[in-house]
Amino acid sequence: VIEQGVLSRLERHVTEALGDGRLFVVYDANLFALHGRAVQHALRRIRGKAIELVIPSGEHRKNASTLKGVYDFLLDNKIARDDFILACGGGVTGDLAGFAAATILRGVSWGVVPTTVIGMADASIGGKTGLNHSLGKNLIGAFWAPSFVLCDPGFLSTLPKRHLVSGLGEIIKCAGLAGAGAIDRCEQLLDRIDSIPTAWEEPIRQAAAYKAAIVSRDELETGKRVWLNFGHTFGHAVEMAAGYGRLLHGEAVLLGLLAALELGREMAPAGKLLTRYTELVKRAVRLIPKRRLDSETVLASMALDKKRQAADLRYVLLRRPGRPVVRSGFRHRQVKAALNRMLRFYEAHGGKGDTHSRNPRT
Ligand SMILES: NC(=O)c1ccc[n+]([C@@H]2O[C@H](COP(=O)([O-])OP(=O)(O)OC[C@H]3O[C@@H](n4cnc5c(N)ncnc54)[C@H](O)[C@@H]3O)[C@@H](O)[C@H]2O)c1
Repeated sequence: VIEQGVLSRLERHVTEALGDGRLFVVYDANLFALHGRAVQHALRRIRGKAIELVIPSGEHRKNASTLKGVYDFLLDNKIARDDFILACGGGVTGDLAGFAAATILRGVSWGVVPTTVIGMADASIGGKTGLNHSLGKNLIGAFWAPSFVLCDPGFLSTLPKRHLVSGLGEIIKCAGLAGAGAIDRCEQLLDRIDSIPTAWEEPIRQAAAYKAAIVSRDELETGKRVWLNFGHTFGHAVEMAAGYGRLLHGEAVLLGLLAALELGREMAPAGKLLTRYTELVKRAVRLIPKRRLDSETVLASMALDKKRQAADLRYVLLRRPGRPVVRSGFRHRQVKAALNRMLRFYEAHGGKGDTHSRNPRT
């Protein structure tokens, strides 16, 4: 459900899912400080059944140590199979609390209230849960679908601009897969990135609907779901090479999209729509703060992440927006050249947007 003010219906959704069990609420720390009371108020009639935990914020905390904290909290409070876990926060909280739900007592039901653009448009959909390992992103995980996903764009009023841009990264990825109409919407959103939460509602709904349509046909990623990795083969490696939290997930995805578009140029020259889409990605890349990145470190991270050399990987590329293709068999020098072209653009133009005006809180 994606709707302004839908938080007021949270209690109803939880009550339906809960039955006679107890409720374990896992909050992101920043979100709790800003909106904890509002969520507690929304759950006021079932507060007697609720036990709460606040976990530390940030990508670098999406790890085994935070997960242990969640397990300890659940087990200390004697969680049972018919209890219910509610995750409140961004993609990190959803991934981590969802993984805890998937694995504790071999699986307890859960629901999610995503509070960031990435959480709403992407991370809460499709049932992928997990955490990072020092050898790579999301290397530990499980498919475990939540009973509900309740998105209230009102939460976005407090999201720092940098995280809005990061969220736009995943929406722009989806636009590349979906085609022309979605590209229009992204261009408009980029024109007024600071805009009120309601402006985000429709782009989030479109991206979420696109992903939901794909994953409901291919839940376990044996076919078309792999398209959703567009930009992520490079992006995950960029995120890791920069150091978790130094570049946000969606920022790394934007750089990954640009690298994938550059690699696609090895296949065929770009048509008009693809050129327009590449310009959109570049506009967003300009807003990403500068970080030191070199192609050797990124290539090494790609090999680590997927346990293969970069040249042996499969890449999701665009023939044109709306027409993704999966390609492999590139030469190492082609992958490296694409990466270098992306890095040169980022070095020359990154950090030109004012994304530091509000605290990025990572
Ligand atoms: N499971 C999936 O399919 C999937 C898909 C895409 C991304 N992801 C994962 O999602 C994560 C990125 O998600 P994210 O960008 O939401 O990161 P995040 O959870 O770290 O949230 C971003 C920041 O916003 C803060 N925050 C959350 N809600 C807020 C609010 N309403 N107001 C102010 N601050 C708020 C958080 O404390 C954090 O500092 C990555 O770990 C990525 O791997 C998962």
